[in-house]
Amino acid sequence: MKGILLAAGKGTRLYPMTLPLCKPLLPVYDKPLLYYPLAALLQAGIDDILIIVPPDEGELFERLLGDGSRLGVRISYRVQPVARGIADAFLIGEDFIADDSVCLVLGDNIFHEQNLPEKLALARANTTGATIFGYYVDDPRAFGVVEFDENGRAISIEEKPRFPKSHYIVPGLYFYDNQVVEIAKGLAPSARGELEITDVNNEYLRRGALKVVPLDEDFLWLDAGTADNLLAAGQAVKRAQDESGRYIACLEEIACSRGFISAQQVHEQGQAQSKTLYGQYLMCVQ
Ligand code: G1P
Repeated sequence: MKGILLAAGKGTRLYPMTLPLCKPLLPVYDKPLLYYPLAALLQAGIDDILIIVPPDEGELFERLLGDGSRLGVRISYRVQPVARGIADAFLIGEDFIADDSVCLVLGDNIFHEQNLPEKLALARANTTGATIFGYYVDDPRAFGVVEFDENGRAISIEEKPRFPKSHYIVPGLYFYDNQVVEIAKGLAPSARGELEITDVNNEYLRRGALKVVPLDEDFLWLDAGTADNLLAAGQAVKRAQDESGRYIACLEEIACSRGFISAQQVHEQGQAQSKTLYGQYLMCVQ
């Protein structure tokens, strides 16, 4: 399975912060925002990753993550020249996906839960169709919203509905088989001029091939698209880290747990930054 991280959003809702630096590179407490969705891909055991970046900022991403070798994975980059919507990722990444399946994660989404790796493994094991998640929020109007029938089966997904049919939104983490490329090619732009991920999911639903996995209450999902959300995300990460004494989205630790790099390699990277708390943490990774 391939992984695509869509990090091309300029983040206009975060101006002036995002004038010099795009949204995925802004800090969420003690790490760049981008680390959190990338952690989800690594936790899913994906070691071949395409990061889609905004024009003119690719070099900054490369400075941060390079070719992925320090994490034992392959990271490549491609520019999204125009903001044409989330599903455009499958057109930009068509030759990268080739004949494989793909997991897409949005560059401003944060996921955290003890059992996340198991959930991701289940989604990955479903090799035909699509697997997405459903997450309860009080106000779902800014998101893709799932409608369920009386048996709890998903029957439609609506993008940013004025009158949502449930409180379950679709977070930005999606698992697709190879049909997704052909489906994305057949999409027409929506009223807001974008190739909508919700239209991709509705097409899988129409084909009887969409699985919606509900996430439970103690799952932490955050979309850091506004200043308030970005601050709340930083506070939530700090709280969770302080309570557990463990870093969230420590890429080196996750890469080690997935067997991409050895504990020895993590310790060496820690030693190189041993004056920092992060470096000291890396030196203790088992
Ligand atoms: C996008 C998707 C929406 C999804 C959300 C998750 O919204 O279109 O379906 O629920 O991401 O963060 P956007 O960030 O483009 O407003």
